[in-house]
Amino acid sequence: MTVPAVPEPLRGVQWKGGLEDGSLVLLDQTLLPSQIIYREITSVEPLRQAIIDLAVRGAPAIGIAGAYGLVLHLVPTARSQVGAGSEILEEALEHGLQRLVTSRPTAVNLKWALERMRECYLRHVGHLTALEMCARLLMEAKRIHREDAELCQRIAENGAALLPKSGGVFTHCNTGALATGGVGTALGCIIEAFRAGKTISAFAGETRPLLQGARLTAAELRSNNIPVTLVTDSMAALLMQQGRIQAVIVGADRITANGDVANKIGTYSLAVLAKHHGIPFYVAAPYSTFDLRLASGSEIEIEQRHGDEIRRPQGAVFAPADIPVYNPAFDVTPANLITAIITERGVITKPTTATVARLMG
Ligand code: MRU
Repeated sequence: MTVPAVPEPLRGVQWKGGLEDGSLVLLDQTLLPSQIIYREITSVEPLRQAIIDLAVRGAPAIGIAGAYGLVLHLVPTARSQVGAGSEILEEALEHGLQRLVTSRPTAVNLKWALERMRECYLRHVGHLTALEMCARLLMEAKRIHREDAELCQRIAENGAALLPKSGGVFTHCNTGALATGGVGTALGCIIEAFRAGKTISAFAGETRPLLQGARLTAAELRSNNIPVTLVTDSMAALLMQQGRIQAVIVGADRITANGDVANKIGTYSLAVLAKHHGIPFYVAAPYSTFDLRLASGSEIEIEQRHGDEIRRPQGAVFAPADIPVYNPAFDVTPANLITAIITERGVITKPTTATVARLMG
């Protein structure tokens, strides 16, 4: 199977310029791997749309983009009243935050990053002018971005140690550099294991309906020189039955207090299959993906997407135009199907409310 290589290094999210002339540059992931086109974002509504379109996607990446987007939203207000105190930003901050946080409801990293930006504002309000506050918030957004790269690296090292010395590793959706600020989460673990000398080969599930596995993961693995075979999602069971999969590793969009994991639709089926075949099932995610306010996965809001993503993928007619479609973007894998959750702080083996709290509480 020939998949066009995505040239390295491709970054999904970048800040360009300074404070007053700055913009957010997003690699349009809807067009990969056939076209490499960047969208330059200078205000909050185009960013909201880019997040909804999945031009920027992956839980950590949308958090980083959201943090930068908030700065873009505040700078015009600050510039319109040079010398004014930062209190004047409050209304714009809340408005921008609401527009962004509602763009994708399941990945908690977006909410986490925006709340962190709000906390930064609240810490400094009253002490800074509006423009100084924007500069401070830009620093915070850059810090969130940089920190994510560091978190990814630590997750990659912790996960690499768990992966088998050799054999097949199945992954789902896209959890690499395009989805994060660094090397990635689940994909980072595979890349790091390979770098450390493990002779693993990857199987990338194509990830219906939007094909993040085929379009992004297969290409990212290949550009890291990791042997990768692309399969349709429905081939996972057969591969496991044939003994060709020694581990499954995926990312997460939200992890609740009891260790339940919301991730790309299809993750739950893989976990059930892995359990049946006695294969370890790993989830890799940073602390910013944990939502300890929710007791269990049944409380997670699951994003429902437009039926045309299934009826007419990329404009091609796959089904009758009026056929009813059910298109949840994510499912929830119960903690009891998960062998371990790999974080930057360490590994939560057999996740339960107690083991999650011990590491993440
Ligand atoms: O709809 P997407 O492409 O944003 O879904 C992405 C996933 O489900 C990833 O597995 C998850 O966000 C983790 S990315 C490190």
